[in-house]
Amino acid sequence: MPSREPNFITAIDVGSSKTSVLVGELSENGLRYRGHGITESRGLRKGVITELDKAVSSIQRAVEAAEDVAVIPIEHAVIGIAGAHIRGMNSHGGISFGTRSREIGRDEIRQAVEKARTLPLPADREILHLLPQEFILDDQAGVQDPTGMMATRLEVRVHIVTALSGATQNLVTAVNKAGVHVDDTIFEPLACADSVLRPDERELGVCLVDLGAGSCDLIVFQQGAVAHTAVIPIGGDHFTSDLSVGMTTGFADAELLKKTFGNAVPTLIPEGNEVEVPSVGDRPSRMMRQRMIGEILGPRARELFEFMRDNLRQAGVLNHCIAGFVLSGGASRLPGMLDVAESILRKAARLAWPTAMAKMPSSLAEPEFSTLLGMIYYGHRARLARGLQEPGFGSRMKALFAKKGA
Ligand SMILES: Nc1ncnc2c1ncn2[C@@H]1O[C@H](COP(=O)(O)OP(=O)(O)OP(=O)(O)O)[C@@H](O)[C@H]1O
Ligand SMILES: [Mg+2]
Repeated sequence: MPSREPNFITAIDVGSSKTSVLVGELSENGLRYRGHGITESRGLRKGVITELDKAVSSIQRAVEAAEDVAVIPIEHAVIGIAGAHIRGMNSHGGISFGTRSREIGRDEIRQAVEKARTLPLPADREILHLLPQEFILDDQAGVQDPTGMMATRLEVRVHIVTALSGATQNLVTAVNKAGVHVDDTIFEPLACADSVLRPDERELGVCLVDLGAGSCDLIVFQQGAVAHTAVIPIGGDHFTSDLSVGMTTGFADAELLKKTFGNAVPTLIPEGNEVEVPSVGDRPSRMMRQRMIGEILGPRARELFEFMRDNLRQAGVLNHCIAGFVLSGGASRLPGMLDVAESILRKAARLAWPTAMAKMPSSLAEPEFSTLLGMIYYGHRARLARGLQEPGFGSRMKALFAKKGA
């Protein structure tokens, strides 16, 4: 049975470090795990494909592994888009109906949203998401769904996420060449939010941070809607590179040292501890102070959160993150990250584990799989929402009535 069948949803996350595929099945009791596959990512740099053939083969291997467990052929999937080429911006637009009030229906909403999206975009960019924040009917702001209401003027505020068309297209091509049709593309933190954020956090104001290997992707929710998105071009790989250079050891050895002994707060590492650090070339390994690892990782962590603070402050959303920060993604596991986040951002921070899916193996219940699981939840929600919409309403409008917790 193909995975396009209404009862299967497949998500593919081609990350900077790992490519992961997850199949969910819709049963009478809701969503349940059906299979997954994970491979090391190849042919990718900072979320952008640099060697197509290598990327195709790592996607193919992850898909085959998932097919083996799920025992279905995977023919369709939703894929995640992330990385430094993503931009987010706010826009608004509206339409007037003359002096007499009119009942608002799909057409009126579509026209208002179309007005909000008509902003000049560079030729190499495309809109990934058009996310309504609020509707304004005459002078009444804060309307979440105006369907059926009366007004002489309808305005809408939207958040628009754009991506470099080439980067998105290359990823779609790689997944296609791996034998899978792409049903939809999702900005990864938007999906991640579905597996880690609680409705009260979205209402109160929260910043979700997906700390991956290649980049740090942000999304801010306020009053249940997306207020801001951004990508900071620093990820776990930068922490590892710093260690590799600072301790004169290979990248793979630095990665192991980071995961085993790392801490973003050097003083949390006992002063007298020593670790064996492999050398490069034929030189023998050396014993070095473990605290040195923290002394190298600490400044990078501070730099990351300082960039984040400046980005959010500039966008005018930092002080609206009343519920604080939620960190997810593999690089958020570095001990001390929460401490650095709280001291720089001056807000509460928590580390998020994804909401589990029924029958899911415990190995997937880790922060580095929050986005993958979120893509299944988001895909499921969008599918339900689409089912309620008229045909041809447009897949980019999918999130319009799919606002979780709204
Ligand atoms: N225990 C740990 N301590 C520190 N860092 C860790 C730990 N576990 C994983 N990481 C780091 O997390 C990163 C991988 O995270 P993740 O799997 O979320 O990235 P990705 O999705 O492949 O990348 P991206 O989202 O940037 O495309 C790597 O840099 C890895 O070193
Ligand atoms: Mg990722």
